[in-house]
Amino acid sequence: MMSRAEAEKLDAADPLAKFRAAFDLPAGVLYLDGNSLGAPPKRALQRLHQTAEREWGSGLIRSWNDAGWIDLPKSCGAKIARLIGARADEVIVADSVSVNLFKLAAALLDARPGAIAVDESEFPTDGYVMEGLARLTGAALVRLKAGETLPAKTRVLVRSLVDYKTGAVADMHATEKEAKAAGAAVIWDLSHATGLIAIDAKRDAIKYAVGCGYKFLNGGPGAPAFLYVAGEEAARLNQPLSGWMGHAAPFDFAPDYRPAEGAARFSSGTPPILSLAALDAALDVFAAIDVKAIEAKARALGDLFLARASSLGLRTISPPVGARRGGHVSLIHENGYAVVQALIARAVIGDFRAPDLMRFGFSPLFLSYTDVFDAAEALADVLTTEEWRDPRFARRGVVT
Ligand SMILES: Cc1ncc(COP(=O)(O)O)c(C=O)c1O
Repeated sequence: MMSRAEAEKLDAADPLAKFRAAFDLPAGVLYLDGNSLGAPPKRALQRLHQTAEREWGSGLIRSWNDAGWIDLPKSCGAKIARLIGARADEVIVADSVSVNLFKLAAALLDARPGAIAVDESEFPTDGYVMEGLARLTGAALVRLKAGETLPAKTRVLVRSLVDYKTGAVADMHATEKEAKAAGAAVIWDLSHATGLIAIDAKRDAIKYAVGCGYKFLNGGPGAPAFLYVAGEEAARLNQPLSGWMGHAAPFDFAPDYRPAEGAARFSSGTPPILSLAALDAALDVFAAIDVKAIEAKARALGDLFLARASSLGLRTISPPVGARRGGHVSLIHENGYAVVQALIARAVIGDFRAPDLMRFGFSPLFLSYTDVFDAAEALADVLTTEEWRDPRFARRGVVT
């Protein structure tokens, strides 16, 4: 197990340590929930002011052109494309992950009808949306159990690269190979992976993906999501929410729909400019960073935390120390909700996933090794003092 002095040594040698200054985090808070809602980059907060006061307040409608508002879905998409090894025009920012999943899966099924498959353990919205799509189209929906092989009739498989509960990283290569053999297309949910796991869409030959803007990308609460479609595939796909923003020439106001080139055809309605402006600025924090360094540090921070947790007798459902993992770990405790609340009262912020998982995220751009060491010590203290038994920690909010 690591000592605090060793954690300090790692911080002194950490090439990512300087990025902590790019974030506006309250003093004294250890924020272990960047996998759910990223912390605000200072430049995103400044940009929100600028966009609201100058561009909207003074520029008014002129800012669609003068401030480049109309380009933001594409320009943010290009910044995300760099992080996942895609071409700039293959990624568009729009809507939520749920809506993007619907559009992409519907377009794929329209091109090649068949069954939809989703892992039983998948983040609920992915399954819910596919359920709705199956109802609408009459397609069969297969809920895959762990390790179950893909039925031959499957045409669309939805899978997260990083599991939202365990932090396990799926094998992209094996998944793509299995899907190809069954004649299915894989839509990757990169929500817990983008800006954290080194993804190379071209090397791994992935063709379709969606992902969040508000987790490791730090785009802000409810930040718009993204959609990736490989260039050679976009032209044959017709998405069902064929709104004017996905039209090849929206300001021609033509009566008939003609889709834009590339991923841009997956836009639907008017983009949320305030949210996009914050996301755009947040993405600039990544401009000079190699995601490989982020992934390596996330794993090291997770290892540090897991080693201490295991010394406390806590069990985990996450990949063990030394294994490849996303940016979070989940520990099992039957009173996990109260333990997490007791930690939050000490300004150590993690979250809880029913029925018994305490989830802690390690966002490498604003967390140091010493932060994670101190957070693990706070956890040890809350457990040994049984501070969590205080009845105030049992009261549940709507969001856990
Ligand atoms: C894997 C995964 N997919 C999707 C979502 C949510 O997507 P949406 O943007 O539709 O809220 C989350 C949110 O935590 C998630 O973890």
